[in-house]
Amino acid sequence: MKSLIEMPPYSEATKVILVSEETVAQHIADDLAKNLKFKGTYKQVAVLPEKNQVLVGVTKKSSIKSTDQWNEVDTYELGAAVVNATKKTALDTFQVSGLCQVFSGESKESQAKRLQLFVLGMHQASWMLDTYIPADKSTRKDLKVSVAEPEMALVTDAWKQELQALNDGVTLTRRMIDDMPESVNPSTIADMIRSEFAGNLRVELKFIEREELERMGMGAFLAVGRASVHDPILAHVVIKPTGEVKNRIALVGKGLTYDAGGLDIKIGGFMKTMKMDMGGSGTMFGTAKALSQIDLAHTEIHWISAFAENMVAGNSYKADDILTSYSGQTIEVINTDAEGRLTLADALAYATLQDPDYIIDAATLTGACMRALTEHFTALMGNDSEFIEALQETFVAEQEKTIHVPMPEVLREQVQGEISDLLNLGKDAAMGGHITAGLFLSHFVDQNLFRNESLGIKEPKAYKWAHLDIAGSAYNKGKNALGVSGATGQTVRSLVRFAQEVDRD
Ligand code: BES
Ligand code: MG
Ligand code: ZN
Repeated sequence: MKSLIEMPPYSEATKVILVSEETVAQHIADDLAKNLKFKGTYKQVAVLPEKNQVLVGVTKKSSIKSTDQWNEVDTYELGAAVVNATKKTALDTFQVSGLCQVFSGESKESQAKRLQLFVLGMHQASWMLDTYIPADKSTRKDLKVSVAEPEMALVTDAWKQELQALNDGVTLTRRMIDDMPESVNPSTIADMIRSEFAGNLRVELKFIEREELERMGMGAFLAVGRASVHDPILAHVVIKPTGEVKNRIALVGKGLTYDAGGLDIKIGGFMKTMKMDMGGSGTMFGTAKALSQIDLAHTEIHWISAFAENMVAGNSYKADDILTSYSGQTIEVINTDAEGRLTLADALAYATLQDPDYIIDAATLTGACMRALTEHFTALMGNDSEFIEALQETFVAEQEKTIHVPMPEVLREQVQGEISDLLNLGKDAAMGGHITAGLFLSHFVDQNLFRNESLGIKEPKAYKWAHLDIAGSAYNKGKNALGVSGATGQTVRSLVRFAQEVDRD
């Protein structure tokens, strides 16, 4: 496999120079800069073919002083901007420089991270799903990237390994989400999991199929998948650390390989894009893939996803059905299109049985989340303020846009049933749907609420849990941080970083 970073630099490489308002005069003649209106402003790119150079501006001006944490210079976006500006050219060999100069006030560690994100952004922006088009229509390039001095000193073996891991993880997430639902169904995903982790002795795989799920009593998950020709599968992937296990993180991803809505079928064009309803599991797959290539010393990763398709047939589950979940809690179905939380209910309860220190779920769960926060922001909810703060800090450090949304206890009665324990939709269905969905999920990470005797839980525990509603941020119709539309791969970087932070503590 070709390396994502080459040493020493290619002699024929196009120089990519990061330029701030202060350093602009050192890199481009005054009159040329004037002609091109190039000032070193954030994301401004000047392609100079006669000098075989590309300049990219880094200076961000913000006149508004606010509590906004999402307006930092993001070198991932800058790397992408360079590639997007040269997409229609034949340029594919680059040498990055100027980064240490424009970030001279920062530590070597911070410069190294910025350089890694810049190079990752370049590679990600040059990727596209081109399985279904002829080569001459594809804009995908296999870039050759190197760095100049003094940047070269920032590149270590660990840095390279992490770059490769993140690129493999984010690409996998994007590929799964962008690909079509007939190719990405529960059984083909199981095959993908087998092939992505093949030969890795630190990874253990378990697939639980329909008959076994029935025996186990995963009544909520199974109801959702019942009408599909593709049987549901629960995947459980364990990544062992190199040393003794001291922490366990459970990653749970919503895995609706298609969401037609069920009998409450999606109308008016809302079905289109529901291939991305496995975005949560795609995110966790990418995260697990990256973590399988990074050596964690004491942290064991459990990735759990319940894969199913929400379809329409004579045996579809119905509104009015009362489902018995794996946890034993019963759920009255109000709307068959609120299916994600039903599959997550069983996957989360299963996750608690692994006795993890942290549970994180990611799900393209609610349209309400997107309406509230736009398609750029993830909603972060959870049941432990320290854990939420730590996660939020990680997201800020990676500049992956995430907003903490509280789950007020007074809204819990919205999802409490009359003739069942729970309802799969808030009573005021049209209001705060992302919050009531979060409250619903919270019932499946607290074993004190479980009523399934056969789980054999002797000392019930309430687990630390965070919920990421990525309905908007997993897939953008408009342009994302990479300057393209479609799957974003957002969230993978932060989850990888969080696991590394847990491992370091
Ligand atoms: N998968 C959708 C949520 C979704 C909508 C994700 C748009 C990304 C973009 C979820 O299963 C769903 O259908 N939610 C409905 C529930 C409602 C009909 C009760 C929603 O939020 O509109
Ligand atoms: Mg739905
Ligand atoms: Zn869904």
